[in-house]
Amino acid sequence: MKITVINGSPKGRDGITNIMVSAFLKGAREAGAETVNIFLAEKEIKHCNGCFACWFATPGQCVIKDDDMADVLSQGEGSEILVLATPLKYANIASMLKVFIERLLVFANPYILKDQAGEHRHPKKLPEAESSLYRSNLVLIANGGLGQREHFQVISHWIKRLALNNLSEVVGEFFAAQGPLLADPPEELRPMIENYLLLLEKAGYEIASNKRVSTETEKLLEQNFIPDEIYLQQINGFFENLLSNVSHPYVKEW
Ligand SMILES: Cc1cc2nc3c(=O)[nH]c(=O)nc-3n(C[C@H](O)[C@H](O)[C@H](O)COP(=O)(O)O)c2cc1C
Repeated sequence: MKITVINGSPKGRDGITNIMVSAFLKGAREAGAETVNIFLAEKEIKHCNGCFACWFATPGQCVIKDDDMADVLSQGEGSEILVLATPLKYANIASMLKVFIERLLVFANPYILKDQAGEHRHPKKLPEAESSLYRSNLVLIANGGLGQREHFQVISHWIKRLALNNLSEVVGEFFAAQGPLLADPPEELRPMIENYLLLLEKAGYEIASNKRVSTETEKLLEQNFIPDEIYLQQINGFFENLLSNVSHPYVKEW
């Protein structure tokens, strides 16, 4: 089983998203998976310009040749699982990840048919998409700083729509709402964070072994690290510290 991660954080391997990804991949490797961890921050991926040449002029071939897309696709070739990893950015995925996803158009079949549920969709895969990332089942790993799970609603919906478009399946969604605590947790939270990362490892192990995460592991990973009020105290205290020598009219009121 091969698992490829595409990480859209501009902080790349130094980001908090990668703390989550590293734990997940550790577990996957323990289960025998081959893993590839790609940081879009280290690649140049140009925007799809919407010319549709990949459908009509040069089928299956993108006109953009002078960037790293071909390299990323070849590294991910043959993956059964594609992990999309991202920080929340304005309640959505990171823009670099979106740019990458749009370039997958090259694998879609232009025709539009009604599926069994009556939804319009591009039908059956092209032969060149057969072993590409376009067809891999999906895992979404994300973290955010606002501290509540509601902020992941859009991306949780989006990944399911993406799977429908790609004729694939979502096999796991892992969201850390209090993401900054993963980077440098206060002493008293260390055991809890370590336990969370062990659970992510377990999720990686399970997905690499069974192509699924157990309901038990999924549920345990849905919990926040600390209650809302304490998170707000901690994060605002941290900001106050950073702002202690900054003169700017920030106020803590509506
Ligand atoms: C431009 C910008 C927009 C952000 N938008 C959100 C947001 O909508 N919700 C949220 O919870 N966090 C938001 N954040 C916080 C990041 O998700 C958070 O800092 C995260 O830990 C960064 O992960 P990384 O280190 O892997 O890049 C935003 C950060 C930036 C820089």
